[in-house]
Amino acid sequence: MNKQDLNYKEYVEIAEGVYWVGFFDESAGLHCNPYLIVDGKEAVLIDSGSREDFSTVMLKIMRTGISPGQIKRLIYQHYDPDLCGNIPHIETLINSRDLKIISHYENNIFIKYYSMQSPKQCIEQMGFHYEFGNGRRLEFIRTPHSHSPGSFVTYDTKTKILFSSDIFGSYDNDWDLFTLISSSCMNCTPEKICPVTKQLCQMKGIINFHKRIMPSKRALRYALDRMEELDISMIAPQHGSILDTPESQKAVIKRLRELEYMGIDYFLKGERT
Ligand SMILES: [Fe+2]
Ligand SMILES: [Fe+2]
Repeated sequence: MNKQDLNYKEYVEIAEGVYWVGFFDESAGLHCNPYLIVDGKEAVLIDSGSREDFSTVMLKIMRTGISPGQIKRLIYQHYDPDLCGNIPHIETLINSRDLKIISHYENNIFIKYYSMQSPKQCIEQMGFHYEFGNGRRLEFIRTPHSHSPGSFVTYDTKTKILFSSDIFGSYDNDWDLFTLISSSCMNCTPEKICPVTKQLCQMKGIINFHKRIMPSKRALRYALDRMEELDISMIAPQHGSILDTPESQKAVIKRLRELEYMGIDYFLKGERT
């Protein structure tokens, strides 16, 4: 797989049985990344996307060879419309009594306004994990207030992929599924054009996104502490690019840890651009 030469009109298998089924909207700054995990005959869909993205996401899912009825769980790592908006359409198409929604109870209060049908499961009551029929385990890690009270991230113990929701996300008109960030970004000042890649700096979009979306430095640092306890192969966020190298992960974590002003502190400092 040549990572910078992918056809985004099709699904992309980012690891064995793990698919990006998102939508590359060239006119948008916010690129949403739903992911499908397939294990045997069973599938789980993470942060399925907006109402507008529904047909693209569903078509890509079906092209992987999965029929809608094989999707047993929908995971929503918080409750924003960019990841939950297509729930009614997805539920209707799957049309199965076995389908359940997994989130945190703080999110389920709001998710019920998208979803009338499916039972809602809370990660706390599930012991913070979900097991596929053949034993594959997904672990859920709470990241409260990064950025919603009920936010959490999902760790696939088989592939060691961390699905990080809005954390490590980006708002950027330029987009690649896999990051261009490397170890040379570790100490660089994010300029508009990167001196190494000669493209727009991807770190800038990540920093701007976190300054605006994350409510506080304390919340983000707590989330980073929890995630750094894991043995991670890739970080797969709901926006922006997948961090698929240890160098890119280290560089972004360092930058996010350095941020002093975000959320209300960013607003009060009057730094907004
Ligand atoms: Fe969000
Ligand atoms: Fe989001």
